[in-house]
Amino acid sequence: MIEIAPSVLAADALRLGEDVRRLMDAGADLLHVDIMDAHFVPNLSFGPDLSRALRRGFPAVRQDVHLMMDNAEKYIEAFASAGADDITIHCELGDKVQPALDRIHALGLRAGLSLKPGTPAQALAPYLDSVDLVLIMTVEPGFGGQKMMPEALDKALRLREMGYHGLISADGGLNAQNAALAVRAGVRRLVMGTALFGAPDPAAAIAEIRALEKA
Ligand code: DX5
Ligand code: ZN
Repeated sequence: MIEIAPSVLAADALRLGEDVRRLMDAGADLLHVDIMDAHFVPNLSFGPDLSRALRRGFPAVRQDVHLMMDNAEKYIEAFASAGADDITIHCELGDKVQPALDRIHALGLRAGLSLKPGTPAQALAPYLDSVDLVLIMTVEPGFGGQKMMPEALDKALRLREMGYHGLISADGGLNAQNAALAVRAGVRRLVMGTALFGAPDPAAAIAEIRALEKA
């Protein structure tokens, strides 16, 4: 089953709640919440209070929180208590990764691991038994509205060859036109910002992507 996860980074900050309501009503499955620390990536986005507000406004909507932070391990509790369901950290954090994944699981959440375009799938090998999802970055993380890097999708096949059978998500530059590439590669959670929040008819865009399940 394909999951469609609008990335709230692309929402209109002045009408974020309305924008999210519009996309959930259009058939989106869950929300992707991009947290950026202006250090791990060259942009600054939101804090736990956004997750808390989304939980208050959309109590039934799953929150897929993506921590693009150098000290992500220090914010796991804060996002867990604010409203995260899934917390994804980056494998580039090195020896902080395993304790952070263990902490996410200890709090009863699903743990994800992401890798930048320049990081090979092999870097995830030590952690594949400890994650519920792998988030393949198909852009250099930090900003929405970039062009998808299709070569990053090759990592999905590589992950399967490495014996990973869990959920694979892709994030960055995805749209109704290139989603088929991601689905064919084995991606089942599509993170989409600009393509959904900027869509004149998000329900049509979502329906077009859903149709890929039958393709
Ligand atoms: C980029 C973020 C992505 C991004 C997706 O660092 O992690 O989630 O917001 O936005 P689009 O779909 O516009 O590339
Ligand atoms: Zn993201």
